[in-house]
Amino acid sequence: MTKGLRKGLTSYGDAGFSLFLRKAFIKAMGYSDDALDRPIVGITNTGSDYNPCHGSMPALVEAAKRGVMLAGAMPMVFPTISIHESFAHPTSMFLRNLMAMDTEEMIRAQPMDAVIVIGGCDKTLPAQIMAAASVDLPTVVVPVGPMVVGHHKGEVLGACTDCRRLWSAHRAGDIDEQEIGEVEGRLAPSVGTCMVMGTASTIACMTEALGLSLPMSATVPAPHAERVRIAEASGRRAAEMARTGGPRPSEILTPAAFRNAQVVLQAIGGSTNGIVHLTAIANRTPHRIDLDSFDAIGREVPVLVDLKPSGDHYMEHFHHAGGMPKLLQQLGSLIDLDAPTVAGGTLRDVVAQAEEVPGQTVIRSAANPIKPVGAVAVLHGNLAPRGAVIKHSAATPSLLQHTGRAVVFESTADMAARIDDPDLDVRADDVLVLRNTGPKGAPGMPEAGYLPIPRKLGRQGVKDMVRISDARMSGTAFGTIVLHITPESADGGPLALVQTGDMIRLDVAARRIDMLVDDAELDRRRAALGAPAEPAWAARGYARLYWTSVLQADEGCDFDFMRRQP
Ligand code: FES
Ligand code: MG
Repeated sequence: MTKGLRKGLTSYGDAGFSLFLRKAFIKAMGYSDDALDRPIVGITNTGSDYNPCHGSMPALVEAAKRGVMLAGAMPMVFPTISIHESFAHPTSMFLRNLMAMDTEEMIRAQPMDAVIVIGGCDKTLPAQIMAAASVDLPTVVVPVGPMVVGHHKGEVLGACTDCRRLWSAHRAGDIDEQEIGEVEGRLAPSVGTCMVMGTASTIACMTEALGLSLPMSATVPAPHAERVRIAEASGRRAAEMARTGGPRPSEILTPAAFRNAQVVLQAIGGSTNGIVHLTAIANRTPHRIDLDSFDAIGREVPVLVDLKPSGDHYMEHFHHAGGMPKLLQQLGSLIDLDAPTVAGGTLRDVVAQAEEVPGQTVIRSAANPIKPVGAVAVLHGNLAPRGAVIKHSAATPSLLQHTGRAVVFESTADMAARIDDPDLDVRADDVLVLRNTGPKGAPGMPEAGYLPIPRKLGRQGVKDMVRISDARMSGTAFGTIVLHITPESADGGPLALVQTGDMIRLDVAARRIDMLVDDAELDRRRAALGAPAEPAWAARGYARLYWTSVLQADEGCDFDFMRRQP
């Protein structure tokens, strides 16, 4: 049963008086009794001048409202925090949990029978879904959609895989000042999220696989009219869900749904960040995902979607090839088609409507995959007792088994100061090590795991080296890069014990990452190091809450007190 404006009427003791007050105030906006006496669908507005990825928010909010009203319910738009990757200091990840708390509490606080969350830039959909899972009110997720591609000198550009490549070319002296200025105006040619298979695209695809958004929601380009129609259709659906009371996130987010999302993460060559966020979402439900299950699923699931950085294309091409319904169809028995979706049926209904696009090569069949196994592997070893991840689909095959000398950087600042020093003692077969970049270390686990190739090696034509850290990496980046080393160095992890000159062995086939230093020596170094000190930035405010409560990467980096008991 819907409650509309009556929902949660306790504030003034007398329910009649509370409703009277609510109506008296809301009528200041010019609403009629007819408008107010209906189920209410809340709609989050995460538009911000600091968030170009969400630049189409006004149109999407308007369309969602229209859909709600066409279905006879009442839309109420409310603001929440918005986070953009480039405008969130110290890191967007530091703020994800704040956005999740804000979104959760505003959904709880205000009267609504269902909610539409609209987001897309990397951390926003995870935060919104974590919130929705905790509140457990019927929820439809509307991603803002990917940007269209850019063009430069006859070449297709993708944000931000090509940001790094072209900036490296500029650093190496191959692209001059004027040209890099032109590129700057062409890399992100429209509103919407990065159009390669980075974190935003990965999360949007996993959201559709989880059943939390309508079919094709992940892939329709942000500037397309179809994107606006999806927002309208989501409004209609949310109005029906407000009336019937379901499905709720707890009915959608089942173990089968989480497994489907893990399969999709591998099949799309998804971002390693997807592992952290999906784990955090699961922790908001009674279900759990352990890191090793990503590895086990990766061994069974081929990469089928030919998108950068693992492949060649972009989100709009994935869309025109049939999008997620077609991918789910191609994955066949790897997907549990009985999983329900917010569209009202199951994934079986979604797959039944998958479009057949003659001649498309972007969504492959299992018989003709991009890679025979999944994109991401999980490593263990004396460097990563609780695990680390590598996106081996975007790595150099010859480096996947490699032993080299460690060149250690203490922090991102130390790395920035020394990596281009012509006197830095570094060779192409060394292993670059970066620490103090985990959830607590930096703080907020910055996307610093993509250490640049030292300039003097770059100039010699070195394109890739083994690089290891407790940081994250942008899903748009490429290289032989071990990430999320857990526990992190700033929380007592053994990464803190590595010294320049130690030998480090990476063996992806064996799923190992080890430093070849004997235990007695490691014990001696551990004793000399002592316990990690409390950093000055953690003295007060949200930073204090963050530092005292954030979980490690293998547990999703949520706050320990936000998890639901299994
Ligand atoms: Fe927003 Fe890439 S910066 S999705
Ligand atoms: Mg990103």
